[in-house]
Amino acid sequence: MRKCRVGLVGAGGVAQRHARVLAGFDDVELVGVTDVAPQAASALAAQHGGRARADVAELLATDPDAVYVCVPPFAHGPTEEAVIDAGVPMFVEKPVAVDLGTAERIADLVARRGLRTAVGHHWRYSSLLDEARALLADRPVRMVSGAWLDKVPPVAWWSRRDRSGGPVVEQAAHVLDLIRVLAGEVTEVTAYGNGTPPPVDGADIDSVTTAALRFADGAVGTLSAACVLGWKHRAGLEVLADGLALSITEDGLSIRDADGERHVPADPDAARVAVDRAFINAVRGIGDDIRVPYAEALATQRLALAVADSARTGATVRLAAPTAPTVLSTGVTVDA
Ligand SMILES: NC(=O)c1ccc[n+]([C@@H]2O[C@H](COP(=O)([O-])OP(=O)(O)OC[C@H]3O[C@@H](n4cnc5c(N)ncnc54)[C@H](O)[C@@H]3O)[C@@H](O)[C@H]2O)c1
Repeated sequence: MRKCRVGLVGAGGVAQRHARVLAGFDDVELVGVTDVAPQAASALAAQHGGRARADVAELLATDPDAVYVCVPPFAHGPTEEAVIDAGVPMFVEKPVAVDLGTAERIADLVARRGLRTAVGHHWRYSSLLDEARALLADRPVRMVSGAWLDKVPPVAWWSRRDRSGGPVVEQAAHVLDLIRVLAGEVTEVTAYGNGTPPPVDGADIDSVTTAALRFADGAVGTLSAACVLGWKHRAGLEVLADGLALSITEDGLSIRDADGERHVPADPDAARVAVDRAFINAVRGIGDDIRVPYAEALATQRLALAVADSARTGATVRLAAPTAPTVLSTGVTVDA
């Protein structure tokens, strides 16, 4: 069997996870890894296979079948352009950028090239999602309440707005993506940040943010993000429909209805493996279970940035309905 030859750009925390998962697939060979910190690339290659490459050009010169882009939010753009130019299928970690312009430019290039892409919104591969969707199939969602309540992650770029986009874009985007799946598209956002950064050198992000959301189908909801704790407290979503309350996290779904309450556990690692398996399968031409191609991640990015923009400006942000597969305009207007 010819193996799928994969290259990695970025060798930090999430790249190590992908490398570990990919190294466990017998139809994948890691051919190279590049990082602006060469020692990080060398360490990852030594542990999981392949060779450290000097830069993206040298990585692409190995003629990989697929490239994973695992860089921090601020670093997206040039790598994707080079990979698209080479016509290589691309897995991009979320968030796809720190801003909207970069994400729209890459989405446009992807669409023009007809390139196969996937984005790391692995929550979409949770077995709980099918169960939640089935329960909601015959009753409209009335209200959602999403939250990511956590600590400041131990990476220097995270607490800088221009590096990470802030907690909503960088982290709560997983929850916003799930909100879009279960409750549909958001048309209006009004958000508040507390204007107080966490006690970390150079931090300029809000340490708490809360947003009110209005949905196209009439539902309303909230999204809260916090990094004031010393632990990961909760990341997930509550969904209310008539006579039904769902509580969804990465590791379980609680269901309460007229029949009582039950809990369905899930293994969060299964979704993290499934997102890689689906991408590799698609690259190898085996089915197509990519649930978040780049254009779909762009819609989540647009929503996350709308929350961040509203919190920053104090203005309500209206969102146009996404026009798949590619949106070239910003789709966002701001009411003063
Ligand atoms: N889907 C998930 O569950 C998940 C989990 C963790 C992180 N992430 C996302 O992955 C991204 C990276 O997070 P991380 O925890 O790996 O960060 P990290 O800081 O641990 O690693 C990032 C690596 O990228 C390298 N890098 C920076 N700019 C580069 C460039 N231009 N070219 C090549 N390498 C470059 C850095 O040197 C570093 O080694 C973030 O956007 C984060 O949100 C997603």
